[in-house]
Amino acid sequence: MESIKASTYFVHFKEKGYSELNQLIANKKYSSIFILVDENSMDYCYSRFISNLETSLTIEVIEIESGEIHKNLETCSGVWQAMTELGADRKSLLITLGGGVITDLGGFVASTYKRGIDFVNIPTTLLSMVDASVGGKTGVDLGVLKNQIGLFANPEIVLVDIDFLDTLNDRELRSGMAEIIKYGATYDIKLLHNIKYYNHLKNNDLIHRSIEIKNEVVLQDPKENGLRKILNFGHTLGHAVESYFLESEHKESLKHGEAIAIGMICESYISSKLLSFPKEKLVELKTLVDSIYNKITIEKDDYPHILSLLKHDKKNVGGNVNFVLLNDFEDFQLDCIVPEELMIESLDYYNS
Ligand code: GLY
Repeated sequence: MESIKASTYFVHFKEKGYSELNQLIANKKYSSIFILVDENSMDYCYSRFISNLETSLTIEVIEIESGEIHKNLETCSGVWQAMTELGADRKSLLITLGGGVITDLGGFVASTYKRGIDFVNIPTTLLSMVDASVGGKTGVDLGVLKNQIGLFANPEIVLVDIDFLDTLNDRELRSGMAEIIKYGATYDIKLLHNIKYYNHLKNNDLIHRSIEIKNEVVLQDPKENGLRKILNFGHTLGHAVESYFLESEHKESLKHGEAIAIGMICESYISSKLLSFPKEKLVELKTLVDSIYNKITIEKDDYPHILSLLKHDKKNVGGNVNFVLLNDFEDFQLDCIVPEELMIESLDYYNS
């Protein structure tokens, strides 16, 4: 697969990725290599990765616990501490090997350690391949508030090895699919149709095209002043639903993509009421989402908690909750203000 040129770095695939990474390590004269993993990427991905790495430098592995619940400053502090004790200096390289939590947190840890060291992203989940590892967003959650602390910082390389997807269970793969649906609905209708056509959760073309779209959008608007906001489609209500399920003791946490899929249905429903988004396309999207995800029950009692979490969304400006809505597929409207009754109605529609 052809490499994709991002702003200051490339996204490389498979063998080409490993050879570019080895080249980078040789050229940049790093002092040591740190690899950040969680128990999953350690158990299932590390040996494949390390067998492709050619270097005589000292390699230290730092393992953190998996899960969004650990994507916080306390975990960062543990990693900074470990790096310090293991002698990481300004010429050390941090390689993040894992899903979105590892690439987001690892990028943040690297770009703040000693005012910033180089890092390389090696996403091992579908979600991190098509979204988190590309585009320069790094950061962690603050309590239940997602990605509240962080900064924009680019990796040296992103290496996408699609074979890592063989290590994932179906639920994890389905979670990543939500971001591909998002690119399709907001930016590339052909991609949306191809999801149905390929009917497969591990598809090179879908992954490559998704990364291309993410990159095209980020190149035009790296700091999310305008166009990049389309990448938040489904994420306003989706993040609130995700946070609520995360903090709620009597609910099983949702995967990110499962919550975003709910958010996309709700926000498409709102689009059909507030803008001109056609009813039949709303049904088309809901049918696609229903064919991929199990139904999640959102009780009426949950609604007030979800709506109150929206008030903390970091995309809010001047106290207003900002939505990305659709006039049609590939035709979006940014910074839409939505009446609360319509948000409630959209949750009812999702439940219907
Ligand atoms: N995941 C959304 C973005 O990178 O902007």
